[in-house]
Amino acid sequence: MAETLITADQHASKNEKYTTLLPQLKALTEGETDLIANVSNILAALKEVFGFLWIGVYFVKGNELVLGPFQGPVACTRIGYGKGVCGACWEQKEIIIVPDVDQFPGHIACSSLSRSEIVLPVFVKDEIVMILDIDSEQLSTFDEEDSLHLQQVTSLIASFF
Ligand code: SME
Repeated sequence: MAETLITADQHASKNEKYTTLLPQLKALTEGETDLIANVSNILAALKEVFGFLWIGVYFVKGNELVLGPFQGPVACTRIGYGKGVCGACWEQKEIIIVPDVDQFPGHIACSSLSRSEIVLPVFVKDEIVMILDIDSEQLSTFDEEDSLHLQQVTSLIASFF
């Protein structure tokens, strides 16, 4: 396992940053089967490269989402089905990009610094088992490009289940 990440130039495009990072996420988790260990390292690597305000996962447990590994400020521990952006992602079974959290009805503000957000479902055999949530301090941080690259991350995470 590599101990340090090779990071794209600070001024590199988002696409370059993702394409440099993704093979390293695979290498970083290769040979390790523990879900929490692998997810923790993936989240740390993404935070290191992109400097997001918050990145973490919520596990589907019964009728709630329960906080799992994360990087960033402390967060709410439980989110109900259909509640907030995470619960909506779970209910709609779709990636949700929120350019301005103040415009999303029912958004749950774990940190008042969060301005935009992307939430992706992690599917295992057509079932959502986890939600990946990323928050930014800037408006409109996330777009289709993030969605496409982060789907590779959620597929990688799904392979550990
Ligand atoms: N904003 C999320 C809650 C989780 S925190 O951002 C970490 C939501 O509305 O579901």
